[in-house]
Amino acid sequence: MAFDRSIKIAPSILAADFANFGAECAAIEAQGCDWVHVDVMDGHFVPNITFGPATCKAIRPHIKGVMDVHLMIAPVDPYIEAFAEAGADVITAHVEAGAHIHRTLQAIRGAGAKAGIALNPGTPAESVSCLLDMVDLVCVMTVNPGFGGQKFIHSQVDKVRQLRAMIGDRPIHIEIDGGVDPVTAPLVAAAGADVLVAGSAVFRGGSVSDPAPYGDNIRTIRAAAEAARG
Ligand code: DX5
Ligand code: ZN
Repeated sequence: MAFDRSIKIAPSILAADFANFGAECAAIEAQGCDWVHVDVMDGHFVPNITFGPATCKAIRPHIKGVMDVHLMIAPVDPYIEAFAEAGADVITAHVEAGAHIHRTLQAIRGAGAKAGIALNPGTPAESVSCLLDMVDLVCVMTVNPGFGGQKFIHSQVDKVRQLRAMIGDRPIHIEIDGGVDPVTAPLVAAAGADVLVAGSAVFRGGSVSDPAPYGDNIRTIRAAAEAARG
C-alpha cells in the first residue's frame, strides 16, 4: 500500500446486500472504488452486531485492492491476529476501546497490518497526539458509530483540520466515516481528509445486477471532494 494523499473512496459494505458480500465487493471495485471498508461491530462497544474475522476471510478473495477493517469492538487485542490472518490490509481500533491503545497499535503492526486509530465524535484530536508515530491512519467518526444512514456531524470538520496540522508531512491517512455524501465530502476534503468512507451514499439505487449507480455515486463523491481540494 504505497502512501499518497489523493482522494480515495471506501464504500462501507454495511450498506451492501449481506447475502451477497462477495459479489458486492467485486461490483464496487469494478465501479471504481479505491478501498473496501468493513465495519466490525460486537454489540458491546456499539449497540449493533455485524460480522467477524470469518466473514472478512470469506470476502478477501473478492477484493483485489485494500480491505480496510474498522473494529468497533472492545476488547480489541484478542482478535487482531484473526483479522490480520483474514487478510485485512488496515486494522483500525478505537482510542476509546480500552486502556492500552499503545499496546493495541503495536500488536496491529506486529501482525503485519497497517494500523489505524478511530475517534468518536466526543473524543478530542489531542487524544491521539502521542500516538501518531504508531499509526498509518486516523479515522474521524462523523457519526456516533453503530449504524449507517445517519446524519453527518458538522462539528467534526474542525477536528479534521486540527489533525491535518498535527500530522504535518507524516505518511498518515485521514479517514472520514459517517454521513459522507456529495455535500459533506467537500467539507472534509478541504479540511485535509483523503479517505472517504461512504455506505448509503454509494450503494443507493444500485445492486449487484445493476451496479452502474454505484459507479455514478462514487464518481460524484470523488468529483465533489477533488473540486474542494482545488
Ligand atoms: C458506522 C460505520 C460507518 C457506516 C457509514 O458506525 O462505521 O462505516 O457504515 O455509513 P453511511 O455512509 O451510510 O453513514
Ligand atoms: Zn466504519
